[in-house]
Order: sequence, then structure tokens, then C-alpha cells
Amino acid sequence: MEKKLIKLTINGRVRELSVKPNDLLLNVLRNDLHLMGTKYGCGIGECGACTVLVDGQTALACLILAITVEGQEITTIEGMGDHVQLHPLQESFIEHGAVQCGFCTPGMLLAGEALLKENPCPNEEEIREYLRGNLCRCTGYAAIVKAIKSEAKCLSVNTGTSSE
Ligand code: FES
Ligand code: FES
Repeated sequence: MEKKLIKLTINGRVRELSVKPNDLLLNVLRNDLHLMGTKYGCGIGECGACTVLVDGQTALACLILAITVEGQEITTIEGMGDHVQLHPLQESFIEHGAVQCGFCTPGMLLAGEALLKENPCPNEEEIREYLRGNLCRCTGYAAIVKAIKSEAKCLSVNTGTSSE
């Protein structure tokens, strides 16, 4: 199959790549760009390990053809933070013990980040619902939910009553 030259914007950087029309974004990220933080789990859209953000929305890289996201902003876990400067949500995951084997963690973090952008003050039910497509076999989810909840920015309700 003939390759085509495309430009992908990944973590704010434009990368020029030669891809086949049927190359999956997941394989391009991992094999061509060596961005190994995006995990290969099931390969059929069921585990969420390959979650990335496309224009800020969660997307499963194992189901997307790389040529279809040309011109869109792709964020992988490498664009969220690194070991020198962790993203606050990454710090929160560590603080709450939300990382065990770590296989689901990149996808969970990106999904958590997308949720907090969309809904800065989600309740536990909303967090669990948003993470429905991201499976974790280690943590039982409670620590992950707490880690995301602790990064929520909730406005305190002013009741209008005064004690003076
Ligand atoms: Fe993509 Fe499981 S590897 S959803
Ligand atoms: Fe192991 Fe989630 S920490 S799968």
C-alpha cells in the first residue's frame, strides 16, 4: 500500500511522517514516534489503555487511522507532564496511590484531564461514568476517582446568610 506524507501535531509539535492509509494512530505514536506512554491493551476499543486527546476530547488511538487526524491537536501522556515537571493530576495520582502497575495510568490521566476541562467540579458518579471506557485491573478505581476529585475546582456556594 502506498505511503502518504502527512503532518501530525503531537504535544504541540508538528511531525512530518510517511504513513500507509491503514496505519493506526496507536502504531504511529509507538512505533514511528517512540511515544510509548500510549499503551496497547486490547486493540479493539474496549480497555482505554490507548486513550489520547484529539482536540481536547478523549479518543482511542487503536481505532483511529493516523491520516484522519491530520491538522488536529493530539495530546499523549508525554505532553501532559514529565518526571521533572509533573502535571498536578499526575501528582494527585501519586499522592492518592492511584498508580499500581501503571498500565492504565496514561489513559486514566488523559481522561481525567479531559473531564476536568469539560466539568471542573464533577461528583464521584460523574467521574466514574466518564472513566467507564478506561479499565483498571489493579486499583479498584476508588483511588483514581479520589485523585481526580481532589483536583476538581468547585465554587463554594454562597447561601446569602450571614452570622453577623
Ligand atoms: Fe485501544 Fe484497548 S488498546 S481501547
Ligand atoms: Fe494496573 Fe490500573 S494500575 S491496570
